[in-house]
Amino acid sequence: MRVKQLQEEILDLKKNCDVTILAHYYQTIQIQQIADYLGDSLGLSQIARDKANTEYIIFAGVDFMAETASILNQDKHVLIPNYESCCPMAAFLTPEMVKDFKKKNPGLPVVTYVNSTAAVKAESDICCTSSNSVNIVKNISKDFHTETVLFGPDANLADYTEQLSKIKTIKMPENGHCYVHSQLSIEDVEKRKREYPNAKLIVHPECIRAVREIADFIGSTTKMYNYVKDYNSDINEFIIGTEKGLLERLAEDFPHNKYYLASDKMICYNMKKHSLELIKYILENLDDKNYEIKVPKQIAERALSPINKMLDYS
Ligand code: 13P
Ligand code: SF4
Repeated sequence: MRVKQLQEEILDLKKNCDVTILAHYYQTIQIQQIADYLGDSLGLSQIARDKANTEYIIFAGVDFMAETASILNQDKHVLIPNYESCCPMAAFLTPEMVKDFKKKNPGLPVVTYVNSTAAVKAESDICCTSSNSVNIVKNISKDFHTETVLFGPDANLADYTEQLSKIKTIKMPENGHCYVHSQLSIEDVEKRKREYPNAKLIVHPECIRAVREIADFIGSTTKMYNYVKDYNSDINEFIIGTEKGLLERLAEDFPHNKYYLASDKMICYNMKKHSLELIKYILENLDDKNYEIKVPKQIAERALSPINKMLDYS
């Protein structure tokens, strides 16, 4: 009841504000339901660039997503409902480390996963997401006439990308990972497969290789969503190898299927720091600078080029 009431209050407040609300699939279903746009990292960057034509953008996602939206919209106000919502993976790679890798590997392109700081993006040749990394690496390696790229910070995505593109990735660093996806073990997944032998296993590329190898499908959150949407069979059961928010979205949109979370641990507590209460507060206080994500101009200008290059190749 309280949820419905808060959602209505948010939608009412929104009518009088020049605001677009963007939400990632890992948000709670209650937040997903009030968003103007929902998507994966790539989709939300494209929407931030092409469709969010309002003065204010509220981004229900982790910090790097809001930063990317801000870099793409330097004349707008990008607000994050909880400024403690950060992606720990980004901390695996600093700009100094990137400079060091470049020095040791002259001439190789730097590909950074968008799950990185703006300062790291500023040192990169191109960005990528989990949905386009294979295509990006193929394209940038052609541009640089090389069969090897520097790739960070996710070593699992780098490994997945290398397997599919056949382009060698030097991992920056060797151990960068997402605590949600990398903890999904082969034992967890085999247990679920024993429990639900007819279910299709779909996983995110941030999962470890052993888990990816026994999956029926690997893809970004939007690609996983589309796999379920387009799946045509009498048996519609899916084991979801990514964050719980995607399972909630699928259950709402395709309720005739059955979904099982690959492990009870698949929750990103960083994504879940947002709440309807905080979104309502922001709508009532759009000029509260504490919630505004603003990348320093010098960094934003340098980070814009690798982000735009990624969007052009996507
Ligand atoms: P997507 O690229 O699927 O949105 O994933 C982002 C992310 O943070 C995965 O953990
Ligand atoms: Fe970062 Fe992992 Fe959370 Fe995605 S799921 S935002 S990579 S911590």
